Amino acid sequence: MRLPVSDTSPAAVVILAAGEGSRMKSRTPKVLHTLAGRTLLGHALAAADELSPQRLVVVVGHAREQVGAAALAAAPQAAIVVQDQQLGTGHAVRMVVESVGAMPGTVVVSYADMPLLRGATLRQLVDQHRECGNAVTVLSARGDAAGYGRIVRDRSGSFLRIVEERDATTDERAIDEYNSGCYAFDGALLADAIKRVTTDNDQQQEYLTDVVDILRRDGHPVGTMLAADAGEVAGVNDRVQLAQVRRALNDRLLREWMRAGVTFVDPGSSWVDVTVTIGQDAEIGPQTQLEGATVIGQGARVGPGCLLADTTVGEGAVLLHVVSRQAEVGPRATVGPFAYLRPETSIAADAHIGAYVEIKKSSVGSGAKVPHLTYVGDATIGAGANIGAGTIFANYDGVHKNHTEVGQNAFVGSNTVLVAPVNIGDGAYTAAGSAIGEDVPAGDLGVARGRQHNSDGWVLRNREQTRSAEAAQRTRSGKSQ
Ligand code: UD1
Ligand code: CA
Repeated sequence: MRLPVSDTSPAAVVILAAGEGSRMKSRTPKVLHTLAGRTLLGHALAAADELSPQRLVVVVGHAREQVGAAALAAAPQAAIVVQDQQLGTGHAVRMVVESVGAMPGTVVVSYADMPLLRGATLRQLVDQHRECGNAVTVLSARGDAAGYGRIVRDRSGSFLRIVEERDATTDERAIDEYNSGCYAFDGALLADAIKRVTTDNDQQQEYLTDVVDILRRDGHPVGTMLAADAGEVAGVNDRVQLAQVRRALNDRLLREWMRAGVTFVDPGSSWVDVTVTIGQDAEIGPQTQLEGATVIGQGARVGPGCLLADTTVGEGAVLLHVVSRQAEVGPRATVGPFAYLRPETSIAADAHIGAYVEIKKSSVGSGAKVPHLTYVGDATIGAGANIGAGTIFANYDGVHKNHTEVGQNAFVGSNTVLVAPVNIGDGAYTAAGSAIGEDVPAGDLGVARGRQHNSDGWVLRNREQTRSAEAAQRTRSGKSQ
């Protein structure tokens, strides 16, 4: 979603992402951990992008190459500013001002580890900031303020400053309104004030929060905007919080889809990436995960037990216990239970893929059936063809992958091995149990198996007094009467 570009587009959004995130105890930088199909940083960039800022700046420090590259991959227009040492949030913003200069207009500063913060909330912050003519507007929240900077007000309720918990008095610690870490600034005033921030605090760091006090003492109006939903400003510092935030984001997404006309049978066990699209009246069953660029058509039924990544599902298709990556399933096609669709697979309309079937880089024509226990690789299967149970498309000769073509309305007998490259013509048949290595022209029957020979009375001679021999004896003597 992108909000309409307006002349209220901010001059810049600055995202702080230089911290280490050591509580994640991870080899992956904190802001590159993912939820709902995007990194923490990716969510922050997406929210920023909804404002169409004239400039998007990401401050990197720890793992700067990796984080900077990820930022540019998600937002190629971003400017990357390196903060060599993490000397505080104020220091990080000073590095930005020193690197790109003052940014006249509204400058939003936010963090890379607040993935629930919506673009719409940032927009509200910018709008209120403009309407009030503030030098700075702080996005605050109310609730359990432990660990956060507190919003300090005078007796009349006017906003004075932010005090960090470790620098706060007992009275100040009792305040339940806290600083989210997200702000709208007047860019010119910020550029001036950021130079005057001292390190006179418990951590001896440059606090961005001190800018509020500096601007107010200079006589500029400062204000706050209370977040309607404190959950939106929840930060991620460890993997417990990551799981909580993932659950919250998923709940939010599923509520939006349900309000748009999608049924979730068990919202608690379905997971949907932000990049997924779902049509009206689709029904998503329990234990189903939809990832990446997956698109679910109207009225399709997906689940229980599906994992679909970058998969397109047509209208009215039915998928049951399917794992699929980069595949396409046509309208009304049925897949599963227990099917595996691998990249570059395309199943046409009304086709049926049944139990224990794996398909890779192949197209299955409309109305064709691959009902049971089959591997299809590097093949084209014509419309209306029927592939018998246990058929194997032997596509790999140990060196090359080879292609198999099965014509329209062809009928491949059970347990056929199709040794690629090979062509089965339109309407051709193969006999069950054949190993077909040569083309079968249209309308022919290909038979490639040993002829059957029955050795007369072998069991009676070689398995005397077994149950088999006795049963055979009864039948044979009955017949001979
Ligand atoms: C900060 C705020 C606090 C607020 C809280 C909300 C200050 C002084 N305090 O505290 O009022 O309630 O956020 O979460 O700003 N970062 C850098 N470079 C640095 C330091 C931090 O990029 O030198 C980034 C971190 O990666 C992180 C964010 O800034 O994403 C916040 O830093 P953190 O150290 O967690 O700030 P807090 O002490 O939590
Ligand atoms: Ca923090």
